[in-house]
Amino acid sequence: MNAVAVITGLGASLPPDRITNEHLVREGLETSDAWIRSRTGIESRHRVRPGIATGDLAVAAARGALESAGRHDAGLLILATTTPDRRCPATAPEVAARLGMAGTPAFDLAAVCSGFVYGAAVASAVLMAGAYDSVLLVAAETYSTIVDPHDRGTAVIFGDGAGATYLTRGHRADPGALVHFDLGSDGTGSDLITIPAGGSGSPYTEASPRQDRYFRMRGREVYARAVRQMAASSRAVLGRAGWSTDSVAAFVAHQANQRILDSVADRLGIPPDRCHGNLRDVGNTAAASLPLALADTAARDAVRPGARTLLTAFGGGLTWGSIAMTWPQAKPVRHPPHPRPAHKETDTCLPSTTTS
Ligand code: COA
Repeated sequence: MNAVAVITGLGASLPPDRITNEHLVREGLETSDAWIRSRTGIESRHRVRPGIATGDLAVAAARGALESAGRHDAGLLILATTTPDRRCPATAPEVAARLGMAGTPAFDLAAVCSGFVYGAAVASAVLMAGAYDSVLLVAAETYSTIVDPHDRGTAVIFGDGAGATYLTRGHRADPGALVHFDLGSDGTGSDLITIPAGGSGSPYTEASPRQDRYFRMRGREVYARAVRQMAASSRAVLGRAGWSTDSVAAFVAHQANQRILDSVADRLGIPPDRCHGNLRDVGNTAAASLPLALADTAARDAVRPGARTLLTAFGGGLTWGSIAMTWPQAKPVRHPPHPRPAHKETDTCLPSTTTS
């Protein structure tokens, strides 16, 4: 069976406000440009203004992916995010409605920084099963809304942004073919990356410590697990595809921290000129990291369409995953965040009430 999911559209969205390391220092964070650069490789990240939500970035990136694919809608929409607009309902149905796709099945997927890989695996499965002919896979995050601005272990790393891919059924030989997956999780490490309060296990109350409502990460331990797990998962998916590391022309890892990326590439024996990403300019955008890096790299024409490509990610949960794929042909389309209209577009789609 040669049918596989194929990426035929790429979209991206970044908030216009670029926050440099010096900007964080000016805001009062006890850090320095030199420390952040040397420990993470990050020089700037983007941040939404108050009033702009994850859904606004998701709509913009999704619109880009639709335009890039030359399509107006999709059979299914998946939104990978850690930062939904509200705890309830999911953000995906509203994103679909704002794209003119009210009526289309849409759901949120929570796998933190591995969300895009998990979403791609689900999209691939439903396409190969013939359940839908196309999937719009969006990954969008506004970590600036959950990171404690005084926590120098997280405030320097995370940024806001969204990436999206349009997926259809195609063949292994097509550029953008998702050939094999490796996924995994280990909930024994669930406390390494967490927002301690606000869920059903520990509702946020007035007595909760202030920091418990914020995203928290045990950086050192995450660092070690991320390197080990991304290397192991990459080897697993390459083994499944029957590809040697030498044959991998492009390696795009979750943009977590440059030292993590260098260590993973080093363990795998992949030289720097085959490693692609945008960590320096956008920081760690969690689930959005991989599709944003794909879009940026594709915009530079840095990889030949059809070239063997390895994607890998690691995140809270703990979760991880990798994809053996071929580089897509699609030209990425970028849009600024699309603010929610004052009057919901969905209002116009509501069925008229009939009385008997
Ligand atoms: N600026 C200046 N100093 C800082 C700092 C900052 N932003 N953050 C921490 N420090 C200090 C610490 O207080 C500590 O000082 P001390 O030695 O006087 O106690 C020192 O730097 C080392 O702290 P540590 O937390 O051990 O630093 P680190 O080298 O592990 O770097 C991270 C911290 C967060 C950058 C690093 O652990 C990391 O990148 N982890 C993985 C994060 C990640 O990628 N997560 C996403 C995966 S999905």
